[in-house]
Amino acid sequence: MPWLCVRLSVDRERVDSVSDALECCGALAVMLEDAGNEALFGGAGDDELRLWAHTTLCALLPADTEPSQFVRDVTALLGMNTPLTWEADRLPDQDWERAWMDRFRPMHAGGYLWICPSWLAPPPPPAVVVTLDPGLAFGTGTHATTALCLNWLATHALSGKEIIDFGCGSGILAIAALKLGAHSAWSIDTDPGALAVTCENAQRNEVSDRLSAVTPQSLPAGANADVVVANILADPLIQLAPRLTGLTRTGGVLLLSGMLEQQSAEVERHYSAEFAVETHVRDGWALLACRRLALGT
Ligand SMILES: C[S@@+](CC[C@H](N)C(=O)[O-])C[C@H]1O[C@@H](n2cnc3c(N)ncnc32)[C@H](O)[C@@H]1O
Repeated sequence: MPWLCVRLSVDRERVDSVSDALECCGALAVMLEDAGNEALFGGAGDDELRLWAHTTLCALLPADTEPSQFVRDVTALLGMNTPLTWEADRLPDQDWERAWMDRFRPMHAGGYLWICPSWLAPPPPPAVVVTLDPGLAFGTGTHATTALCLNWLATHALSGKEIIDFGCGSGILAIAALKLGAHSAWSIDTDPGALAVTCENAQRNEVSDRLSAVTPQSLPAGANADVVVANILADPLIQLAPRLTGLTRTGGVLLLSGMLEQQSAEVERHYSAEFAVETHVRDGWALLACRRLALGT
């Protein structure tokens, strides 16, 4: 069935009201996309829907809708004096979900590691495939900080290692590590929704018998790991320095990401007494690969 897609760019504050107005004026579905190039991050305890500063709303309409009249109706309903800027595409003989799904491809993360949406055929062996579906939840591998962590995991020996993924989001990093041969993993997040998604993704990837998803408070005292990954944000990484240091075994590696390149020196300062630090950068984002030193070295 053919469709009309009307796209409007709006500021974060107007997303709810404009979405409601689009539906009131006949949109069958409304999809949200980033209108800029902004990464979405959430802090501890942040359980609100996170939105980009500039969001494109894509309204799906029957193909015979007159787009300029539709936008006039929406503008009138919102009581706006200035017209919304918009553009329209026709999606001939194509189904909406298909059009959305077709934008995604398997993503090569480094070494043998691939991230593949569930509806696409996975790359053949020797590829190691993590099956994950894109969505609004953070952690589908496309953001530079996740990609930096995945690339490190894919290019280092993980066989038999124990992993802690602190700030697990979708669970992508621990699941990738387990598929690459790690022995077991703790996935930790303050957001119960992230823990639930991590468990679903672990099941889908057949690693749930080796992965435990818990809040930071529920991690057993004395737990530690050979590889600890924390892709959060610069400030929490600084605040969590004593805890993340304690979770990393001597000789083990702590991967810190989620910081801009210019924030990396400040984060490193809080870890350099106990770790030898190596910095990797991609698209202005940094990963600090920190090897825990033995006392007195
Ligand atoms: C940027 S996402 C990273 C998700 C995934 N690990 C990845 O690499 O794509 C950060 C995650 O850390 C979680 N988080 C933020 N602060 C935290 C804290 N203090 N302790 C544990 N998790 C935290 C957030 O809920 C979010 O799921």
